Amino acid sequence: MLFGTFMNTLTANILNRLRTSDGYLSGGELCREFGMTRSAVWKHISQLRNQGYTIEAVTGRGYRLDGGPCIPVPEEVSPLLTTKRFGRNLVFHEEVDSTNLQAKILARQGAAEGSVIAADTQTGGRGRMGREWVSPPGVNLYFSIILRPSVPPMRFPQIPLLAAAAIHQALDTAVGRLGLMIKWPNDILVKGRKFCGILCEMESEPDMTHFVIVGVGININLRDIPERIKETATSLFLESGREYCRPDILAAILNRFEPPYEKWLEAEDLSGLLPYLERHSWLKDRPVRVEHHNENLTGRVRGISRTGELMLEAEDGKMHALSSGEAHIRK
Ligand code: BTN
Repeated sequence: MLFGTFMNTLTANILNRLRTSDGYLSGGELCREFGMTRSAVWKHISQLRNQGYTIEAVTGRGYRLDGGPCIPVPEEVSPLLTTKRFGRNLVFHEEVDSTNLQAKILARQGAAEGSVIAADTQTGGRGRMGREWVSPPGVNLYFSIILRPSVPPMRFPQIPLLAAAAIHQALDTAVGRLGLMIKWPNDILVKGRKFCGILCEMESEPDMTHFVIVGVGININLRDIPERIKETATSLFLESGREYCRPDILAAILNRFEPPYEKWLEAEDLSGLLPYLERHSWLKDRPVRVEHHNENLTGRVRGISRTGELMLEAEDGKMHALSSGEAHIRK
């Protein structure tokens, strides 16, 4: 279901006015500014309250916004954006099969670069290697960004790492010192458990990229982890004991992602990001087993190449550059 009618423009404008007001805003001022009667103002305030906004009303002083419903709808995310393109077109679904699938449909129809498709819940959330991405409503972030990078398709494997670094930076700033780590190619972990996954998909011709979808799932306020993934998965709430506001996190990620993406388009490779990726790498210098094209390779991770491959030193000393795969730490 599309949540396009979350609120009408006038209600959204009143909300924004309350947002930017320092303290209370009188009913009279709202009437003057928006050319409406007191009872009309009251109706808009009631509507906002019904949608989960906390608005204090004090006689003689007016209205003050005290909190929002923390749903990643455009009305909540847009005021927080500092981007040129990322998130400027944001489509929110209350329920959808998969935001990656919807993003692909919109990209094929010509949606602009930076368009974002977000959902409160997914009925067919997908992870890497055909896995399911558990997507319950009301607690997490599920979104997909449409990119149209004017670079050859062979640079595609660099995009998940670019996204992982940007998302890591945004989350690290938002949640403080939880010690978040990046696991090549595109997971973010806390205390060795995964709470954020990235699924990048591309449509291209041999020497031309049509579009790339960067799909991101983040377990934010999730309290109950399904039994089958309890060993390996977690959420920001479970690790910090705090709840986070989803629109704040989505806006922070989009704000952090756009500038390095634009730099990367002009650069040749990931060189500029390698120090950051290495500093926060979960795998660096650890013994691993990597599932790579139906083969198991063992060795020690030595780093990430400028073009995004995992550099694995095998037990015979030979260095392998792996462009894809799933790494497991060996005990
Ligand atoms: C993984 O770690 O396997 C990647 C998980 C990616 C999940 C996100 S949720 C939003 C977007 N829509 C999907 O169906 N998948 C991605």
